[in-house]
Amino acid sequence: MKIKGILPLALAVIFVLSFSSALYAGTKLNDKMQQLVDTYASEARSTNPGFSGFSAEDGKRLYNLSRIHSKKNESRSCTTCHTKDPSREGRTKVGKKIAPVSPAVTPERFTDPKKVNKWFRRNCKWVLERECTPEEKGDYITFMMSL
Ligand code: HEC
Repeated sequence: MKIKGILPLALAVIFVLSFSSALYAGTKLNDKMQQLVDTYASEARSTNPGFSGFSAEDGKRLYNLSRIHSKKNESRSCTTCHTKDPSREGRTKVGKKIAPVSPAVTPERFTDPKKVNKWFRRNCKWVLERECTPEEKGDYITFMMSL
């Protein structure tokens, strides 16, 4: 009776842990950011039962993906401003400098959930004409943290 109650709980704990810590072997996320990424993971799981953790590979694909904007009729990508190399300084469309997006070069990257959410919203809409999904955001952060 007791064991039956504990087992699902233990499995749930193992399930959650396996998504969070193991992925970030390189630079480590702070607690606030880890919480945000954990939220992305549970959201991703609820919309996609086959979700098996974030992928740096998919994050890299999103970073390099290029798309024609439906109204502006121009090619847009994360690399338009952040350059093809995340360790290099970027530029906004009006020429303002953007510090490299790689946390290996700019340690403040991915330390503030508010900032991260704000810019995901803005930039995903600018490039993809929609918000990024929680899975895409988690993949993107996983890619950046792997650099
Ligand atoms: C039109 C220019 C532009 C494009 C295109 C762009 N960004 Fe950015 N991004 C910025 C600017 C400006 C900032 C804020 C300045 C800074 O952080 O140095 C920023 C910051 C960010 C941050 C905040 C990171 C942190 O913790 O400091 C994230 C996340 C981000 N961008 C994701 C993306 C993604 C994902 C894409 C592609 C879908 C993208 N950006 C495309 C201009 C752009």
